[in-house]
Amino acid sequence: MNRRLCLARRPAGKLTTTDLVLIDEPVPVPGPGEVLVRNTWLSIDPSIRIRLAETTPDGYLPPLRPGDALSGLALGVVAETRNPDYAVGDLVSHTLGYREFAVVGTGAQTLGGYGAPTRVDPGDLPPQWFLGPLGSAGLTAYVGLVEILELSAADTLWVSSAAGAVGAVAAQLAALRGVTVLGSAGSPDKVAYLRDELGIAAFDYHEPTLAESLAALAPTGIDAYFDNVGGDHLTAALDALRPQGRVALCGAVSGYDGAAPAGPPNLFTMVAKGLRMRGFRAGSFNYLEQPMRVEVGGHLAAGRLVHRESIFDGIEQAAAALVAMLAGATTGKTLCRLA
Ligand SMILES: NC(=O)c1ccc[n+]([C@@H]2O[C@H](COP(=O)([O-])OP(=O)(O)OC[C@H]3O[C@@H](n4cnc5c(N)ncnc54)[C@H](OP(=O)(O)O)[C@@H]3O)[C@@H](O)[C@H]2O)c1
Repeated sequence: MNRRLCLARRPAGKLTTTDLVLIDEPVPVPGPGEVLVRNTWLSIDPSIRIRLAETTPDGYLPPLRPGDALSGLALGVVAETRNPDYAVGDLVSHTLGYREFAVVGTGAQTLGGYGAPTRVDPGDLPPQWFLGPLGSAGLTAYVGLVEILELSAADTLWVSSAAGAVGAVAAQLAALRGVTVLGSAGSPDKVAYLRDELGIAAFDYHEPTLAESLAALAPTGIDAYFDNVGGDHLTAALDALRPQGRVALCGAVSGYDGAAPAGPPNLFTMVAKGLRMRGFRAGSFNYLEQPMRVEVGGHLAAGRLVHRESIFDGIEQAAAALVAMLAGATTGKTLCRLA
């Protein structure tokens, strides 16, 4: 049998595990051109929460309906193939996570550019790194820093949700490029992790205020902001940015889990200070995967880039993993490991 995590009902406010349900079904059968993948690692990403609401923002993926299976990035092993390009035993990444088995075709649904099964050769590295610092999280960090913010060593950068999957790579990669980095996170433990293990100046966004914390760590302002959070964080960044500062809009997690998205009320500061703000989806920049892997992989191999994972075991834990990650109870890359 195959178990898939499905939406039981639309969450009213914050997601709870009872909003999701595991459904048993027969293992699906691949058709011509398709492969059957036995998933081994599921990537737990905050953005799936956007699709559990009644509507999704224009331009984004459509909402799921109650009864639909969740989707997300995953790694798995080809168990059966009806496609000559894939052999049984191949390790592939694809976008039909949150289930034990998936039938994936070359015309598979895409999540921001990641679609058909992509062969992964991890060599001696832990395969799940290709869902984290050497996969989507690494690419997102790299695109935001290099393409969107065009950082230089003279810059002072703020990264929000810096103890998370994307934020931790972004903060460390920028620091390794000589940028002065401040990171924010939501607990004293995470702040200690950023300071003591990642070597990044850090603050807890809960207190005192974002403006006071930023003023204390960057008294003359910041040049760039890597936004994972949106809302009050983006508002504070616009105030703290120096003239001609830049913002990379990577995500807005403060508005995903039931809270109404709070736009910044101070957008005119962009006019006043000549700021530049640009949103992006990493999947549109897949051509940067190779340079990202060279740079991030080199730092990981040399022990210069710290990577932490929060791992939940078994498809039974996938709902709890998603709820915990959205609540800030995980650090680094959140994953669900399937036996
Ligand atoms: N543009 C792209 O292509 C792309 C690709 C991947 C991810 N993203 C975005 O990147 C961001 C980070 O994703 P991730 O996978 O690395 O997740 P993550 O940072 O590992 O996990 C989400 C974190 O968000 C923080 N958070 C939750 N509610 C918050 C709030 N109200 N205020 C401040 N922080 C809050 C929590 O950390 P604390 O304990 O610190 O609160 C939580 O751990 C998300 O916005 C995601 O949508 C964008």
